[in-house]
Amino acid sequence: MPKERHKSQQQQQQLLLFLILLAFLLYHVSADDADVMARLAQSLSPTPSSWTGSNFCKWQGVSCSSNKVTSINLSSKSLSGTIPPEITQLSDLKSLSLQRNQLSGPLPPLSNHPSLQEINLDFNRFDSTPQHFLSGLTSLQSFSINNNTFLQPWKIPDSLRDSTAITTFLASNANIIGEIPDIFHSLPSLQNLRLSYNGMTGSLPKSFSNSAIQYLWLNNVGFSGTIEVLGNMPQLKEVWLQVNKFSGPIPDLSACTELSDLQLRDNTLTGVIPDSLTKLPKLQSVALQDNKFQGPMPSFPSGVQVSLGDTNKFCNPSPGPCDPQVSSLLEIVGAMGYPVTLADSWEGNNPCQNWKFIICEKGSVTKLNFGKQNWTGTISPAIANLTELKTLSLNDNRLVGAIPTSLTNLKQLEIIDISNNNISGKVPAFVSHVTVITTGNVYIGQDVPNNYPDSSTSSHNAAKSSSSPWVVVVPVIVFFLISSVLGFVIYRRYSNKKTITYKWAGKGSESGNSEKQLIVNVENTFPISGQVTPIRNPGEKSDYHVHDGGNVTIPVEVLREVTNNFSEDNVIGKGGFGIVYKGKLHDGTRIAVKRMESSLINNKGLNEFKAEIEVLTKVRHRNLVALHGFCNNGNEKLLVYEYMPQGCLGEHLFDWQEMGIEPLTWNQRVTIALDVARGVEYLHSLAQQSFIHRDLKPSNILLGDDMRAKVSDFGLVKSSPDGDYSFETRLAGTFGYLAPEYAATGRVTTKVDVFAFGVILMEIITGRKALDDSLPDEKCHLVTWFRRLLVQSNAIQGALDPTLRPSMDEKTFQSILKVAELAGHCTARESCQRPDMSHAVNVLSPLVEQWTPVPDEDESFGLDFHLSLPQAVQKWKANEDSFSKNL
Ligand SMILES: Nc1ncnc2c1ncn2[C@@H]1O[C@H](COP(=O)(O)OP(=O)(O)OP(=O)(O)O)[C@@H](O)[C@H]1O
Ligand SMILES: *[C@@H]1O[C@H](CO)[C@@H](O)[C@H](O)[C@H]1NC(C)=O
Ligand SMILES: *[C@@H]1O[C@H](CO)[C@@H](O)[C@H](O)[C@H]1NC(C)=O
Ligand SMILES: *[C@@H]1O[C@H](CO)[C@@H](O)[C@H](O)[C@H]1NC(C)=O
Ligand SMILES: *[C@@H]1O[C@H](CO)[C@@H](O)[C@H](O)[C@H]1NC(C)=O
Ligand SMILES: *[C@@H]1O[C@H](CO)[C@@H](O)[C@H](O)[C@H]1NC(C)=O
Ligand SMILES: [Mg+2]
Repeated sequence: MPKERHKSQQQQQQLLLFLILLAFLLYHVSADDADVMARLAQSLSPTPSSWTGSNFCKWQGVSCSSNKVTSINLSSKSLSGTIPPEITQLSDLKSLSLQRNQLSGPLPPLSNHPSLQEINLDFNRFDSTPQHFLSGLTSLQSFSINNNTFLQPWKIPDSLRDSTAITTFLASNANIIGEIPDIFHSLPSLQNLRLSYNGMTGSLPKSFSNSAIQYLWLNNVGFSGTIEVLGNMPQLKEVWLQVNKFSGPIPDLSACTELSDLQLRDNTLTGVIPDSLTKLPKLQSVALQDNKFQGPMPSFPSGVQVSLGDTNKFCNPSPGPCDPQVSSLLEIVGAMGYPVTLADSWEGNNPCQNWKFIICEKGSVTKLNFGKQNWTGTISPAIANLTELKTLSLNDNRLVGAIPTSLTNLKQLEIIDISNNNISGKVPAFVSHVTVITTGNVYIGQDVPNNYPDSSTSSHNAAKSSSSPWVVVVPVIVFFLISSVLGFVIYRRYSNKKTITYKWAGKGSESGNSEKQLIVNVENTFPISGQVTPIRNPGEKSDYHVHDGGNVTIPVEVLREVTNNFSEDNVIGKGGFGIVYKGKLHDGTRIAVKRMESSLINNKGLNEFKAEIEVLTKVRHRNLVALHGFCNNGNEKLLVYEYMPQGCLGEHLFDWQEMGIEPLTWNQRVTIALDVARGVEYLHSLAQQSFIHRDLKPSNILLGDDMRAKVSDFGLVKSSPDGDYSFETRLAGTFGYLAPEYAATGRVTTKVDVFAFGVILMEIITGRKALDDSLPDEKCHLVTWFRRLLVQSNAIQGALDPTLRPSMDEKTFQSILKVAELAGHCTARESCQRPDMSHAVNVLSPLVEQWTPVPDEDESFGLDFHLSLPQAVQKWKANEDSFSKNL
C-alpha cells in the first residue's frame, strides 16, 4: 500500500500548511485588533481599570467574537483623551458606545465601515468631524451625537444616504449648520430624527413624504418654509417643531392617526387650524401658542392638553364660526398660503375695520387690493362669495392656475387685474363692463397641464396643450375679421354720407395692409375719431399687444427704441409722474411716453399708474387724451398716449412769447374751454361710474394741431362710489386750483373739478396764472382777485389778457363777459352754488363760432363709445344683422 500511504502523507502536509496559514492569519488579525485596542487604551485618560493584559476580549465593555472586537462600550466612564483613528480598523466592530464622557479631539474617521451598526457619541467634547464622515456606513442602524457643543460647525452629509438601514439619527445640540439633505427616500427605515438645538437653515425636505419617521424632533433649529409635508407623514407620533421660523398653515393632518404630541409653538404659522386636527384619535398634547393663526379658535376634546396662548389671531376670543366675509377672505388667502402680512393686520371679526388690502362700502367688501405682494398660490373660487366685490387686484404676484369661473357670478364686478402673474387657462366669459387686465401672463388663454405639487393630476394631457397656440390665434383672426368688416361697414356708410365727416379727425391715412387701412379709414371718417385707440394687426411689425378688455401693452424695448433710448432730445416735458418723451411707433403713430420716475415706484405712484390705466381703459372721448397702451415691466412703468403736437394750454397762455408762438385768439380760447368742459362733463356723467379728475389745470389740457383740446392726466382720477357723490380722500391736485372745501376737508365731489375749470376760464381770460408769486399779494391769487373784479362794474375789462385787445369787437367782448360770469359761477365758495359741467357746456357752446355737430346715437351705429374698441366690436357683432338691413 505504498501508494495509499503516500497519499495520506500528502494530505497531512496540506493540512499542516493550512493550519500554519490559519495560525498566521489568526495571529496577524488578532494582533491587529490587539494593537488597535492597545492604542485605544493608551489614548484614554485615565485608562479604564480593567483594561490591562493582552486579552482585550476580557476588558470591561469589550465584546468579541472569534477574538475579534464586535462592540466597545465606554459609556459614562468619566473618560477624557481622544479616540485614535485606527479604531475603525476593528473590522468586525458593530457597536461603538462612547457617550457621556469628556472625550475630545477629532472624531474617528467613521466611514466605509460595512459592519458598524450602532454609534453613540453623545455628550462628549469632540471638536471636529473627519473627511467622508458618515459615508459608506452601509449597516448603520443608529447614530447619535447629541450634546457635542465643541464640534466645529458641520453639515449632515448627503452620503448618509448610504446608510439605508438607519432607524435612528439623533444629533441635537451638535453645532450642525446648513440644510437637511433631501435624502429621505433612501432611508425607508428611519423612525427617529432629532436635530433640535442647532443652527440650521432651509425648510423641511420634500422626501419626508411617505417616510417612516415617527419621532420628529426639530425644535429650536432655525428652519423656515411651510410644514405642508407633515400631511404626508402618516407614521408620525411626536412632532416637535417649536421655536423655528415655519410659516404658512397647518396642513390637513387627518392621515396622521398615530400623532400624539404636536409642538408648533413659537413659529409664524398662519391660517385656519384645520378641523381635522381637533379630531385626531391619539392626540394628547398640542402647543400652538405664539403663532399667527387665524379663523375660528379651535376646540379640542377634553383629554387633550392644549396651549393656544393669546397672541394668535383667532377671529373670536372663544370657539365658534367667523363672520361669513371673514371666512371667505380666509379661504381666498388660504389659496395663497395665508401670507403672514395679512395675519399681522387682519384682527378681529370685521374685515371693514382697517384690514390691510380690503376696501369696504356699507359693510361689504368691494375691493381686494392684493397687487404687488409677490404672493404665490392660486385664485380661489371663494372670491365669488364676496358678492359686492367691484375691484379685484391680484397683479404682480406669482399666482398660477386659472381664473375661476365662479367670478362671473359677481354682479358688481368692474375690474379684475391679474397682470404679471403666471395665470393660465381661458378667461371666463365676463359681462362686457368687466375689465380684465391679463398682461404679463404667458400662458393666459392656454390650457396648461396642472402639474403643481398640491393639485397634481394627469400629466398625459401635456401633448394636448402644446397644440394650444390656436386658442390664441383663432380669436385674434376672428377679431381682425370683425374689425375689417366693421371698418368696411363704417367706411361705406360714411363715404355715402360725406356731410358729417368730422373735421379734426386724427392721423393721416398711411399705406399698410388692408386691415390696417380699413381701421385707419374708421379713424379718418368716423365722426368721433379721437375716441378710438388705433389697434393694428399684431403681426411682426406691430408694436402692440391687445389684451382682453381692450388693454394694450407695448414692450419696453419698443419704447426704448422709438424714444432713442429715452434720450434728452426727445423730452417734451416733466411732471409729477416723471419725464415725458415723444416718439414714433413703427407704424408712424406719434406717441407721448410718460416714464414713471423710479422714486415714485412706491404705493402712491403705482396706484396712480393703475388708476390711470383703469380709468383710461374705461373712458374714451374725443376731448380726453387717448391712452394707446402701457408698459409695466419691472421697474419700468410707462404710459403711452397719443401725441398732442401743440403741447399744453399753459404754454400757449403763459409762455407764448418765450416760445415764439402766436397767442391764442379769443375764438380759440373759448373753443378750448368748451372742449375741456365736454371732456370733464363726460367724465362726470359716465353711466356706470362717475369720475372726478381732481387735477384740472392748463398743463393737463393738451392741444392738437387744430388747436382743439383734450384733457389728460387721469392718474389722480378717483371713481366716486355709487349713490354717494362725495367721499373723503387724500388731498391731491395743484395749489391755485383747489376748491376751498377740498383744501380744507379733502372732500371730493365733481364740484372740485368745476372749481378748477372756473380757475382755468379765468386764466384763459386774463392770461395770468392761478398763482403768481411775482405779483403783489392782492393780485397773486387769481380767483380772489378776479372774483373781486367781477362784482365791480367794468372792472373785468382791465383784467383781460392784453393780447386779446387788438382784435376786440363788441361780440367778442360780450362773449368774454359771459365766460367771466361763468368763471365766477364755477368758483363759488359753496360747492352747492357751483353749476354742473353740463351747464358750462350749455353756456359755452353758443359762443363757439364753428360749431361742429355732436354725432347722435343713431349715427354711431349704436356703438357705445364708453366701451373699449374690442368690447364695442363684440357688441356690434351681436347686432350685425340689424345693421346689414340698414345698408
Ligand atoms: N400726450 C402728450 N402730448 C404732448 N405733450 C405732452 C403729452 N403729455 C404731456 N405732455 C407735455 O409734458 C409736460 C409734462 O406733463 P405731465 O403731465 O407729466 O406734467 P404736468 O401736467 O405738468 O403736471 P402733473 O404731473 O401734475 O400732471 C406737459 O406740460 C406737456 O407739455
Ligand atoms: C453600555 O454599558 C452600560 C453600563 O455601563 C449599559 O447601561 C449600556 O446599556 C451599555 N450599552 C450597550 C450599547 O451595550
Ligand atoms: C444637551 O443639550 C440640550 C440642548 O441645548 C440642553 O438643554 C441640555 O442641558 C444638554 N445636556 C447637557 C447634559 O449638557
Ligand atoms: C362660498 O360659497 C360656496 C357656495 O355657496 C360655499 O359652498 C362655501 O362654503 C362658501 N365659502 C365660504 C368661505 O363662505
Ligand atoms: C419674490 O419671492 C421670491 C421667492 O420667495 C424671491 O426670490 C424674490 O426675490 C421675491 N421678489 C420680490 C420683489 O420680493
Ligand atoms: C408658469 O406656469 C407654467 C404652467 O402653467 C409653468 O410651466 C411655468 O414654469 C411657470 N413659469 C414661471 C415663471 O413660474
Ligand atoms: Mg399733466
